[in-house]
Amino acid sequence: MGFNTWSSFALRVNEEDVRQTADLLVSLGLKDMGYTYLVLDDGWSEHERTPDGDLVADYSRFPGGMAALAGHIHARNLSFGMYADSGTSTCGGYPGSRGFEARDAAAFAGWGADYLKYDNCYPKEGDSVRARYGAMRDALNATGRPILFSLCEWGVEEPWLWGRAVGNSWRTTGDSSASWLSLVNNLDNSVGLARYAGPGAWNDPDMLQVGNPGLTLGEQRANLALWSLLKSPLMISTRLQELSNASAAILMAAEVVAINQDDLGGSKEIYAGPLAGGDRAVVFFNRAEHDEGAAGARFTLRTEQVGYQEDTAVRVRDLYARRDIGTFRGRFSARVPPHDVLVLRLTPEAAPILEWEGGRWPR
Ligand code: DGJ
Repeated sequence: MGFNTWSSFALRVNEEDVRQTADLLVSLGLKDMGYTYLVLDDGWSEHERTPDGDLVADYSRFPGGMAALAGHIHARNLSFGMYADSGTSTCGGYPGSRGFEARDAAAFAGWGADYLKYDNCYPKEGDSVRARYGAMRDALNATGRPILFSLCEWGVEEPWLWGRAVGNSWRTTGDSSASWLSLVNNLDNSVGLARYAGPGAWNDPDMLQVGNPGLTLGEQRANLALWSLLKSPLMISTRLQELSNASAAILMAAEVVAINQDDLGGSKEIYAGPLAGGDRAVVFFNRAEHDEGAAGARFTLRTEQVGYQEDTAVRVRDLYARRDIGTFRGRFSARVPPHDVLVLRLTPEAAPILEWEGGRWPR
């Protein structure tokens, strides 16, 4: 969770705006809500490297330089994010990091960066995307500084398939913008990808547009809620200097944000259906594409979810083990390893009152 300068400041970003944003993250209470990364996107550097090959800040817009800016951010207990590009040039036309990975990673670490957003503009023909991103991953690791690695790659080679091995998040969509069409497009592109994500590696349908003109308050509520459910990074990208109270209240909806920050990030699916005589078949399916550890993911089934009353005693049988596990009331929990199932048959003590009708459980 944090703030990214792109949707609000784009290539006109400057030091004063970033410093003010840091102060506002604190004074508006956003930092305490968990919005702690302040990421400086494209447009911060000079158009050329130094003769030695170093990236330097554009001192006309960042007169204090990057280390001092990082100091201002860190002094507020915020984390500092930087931006670079895996090709020969950033999307905005500034120098890319291709071939300069070790030098640039060392500079970012030296300035105090805690996060790197790595873009995918201007690759050289024939380059492998994974190799370019892998080179920066290795360079960041070699600095010894913990740096969250945000892959801004969405157009090529389905980054959700390989992003986990390289970074901490990957884009699932093109750029978000403050329109309903963009919001639903980015949602639709991200649905179904949950199984590739989990703690440490996340799908990223791009920045929140909450606060930006172009979205109604209802649409802004939808933006935060859906991004929370997608377990997306929650990156604010609106001018905090002009944030309305109504949009601030949406960003500060603690119980919605808690869904995003919930400890459970994996992908769990429960299938269930009725059997003759009132029994239920239930399958806990751990679809996660990554190793969650031998213990697997914890599934919980509430008996009302399959149409039994809360206080109905339900006998649970594991059908592969051919074993009765016990009799439960209210809820039943079990762990299932990745790429595995637990197949259960539930038998109620008394006949269920609710019946499956037309493919739905009645409310
Ligand atoms: C493309 C990215 O998708 C945006 O988020 C932003 O970083 C721009 N590049 C910057 O040029």
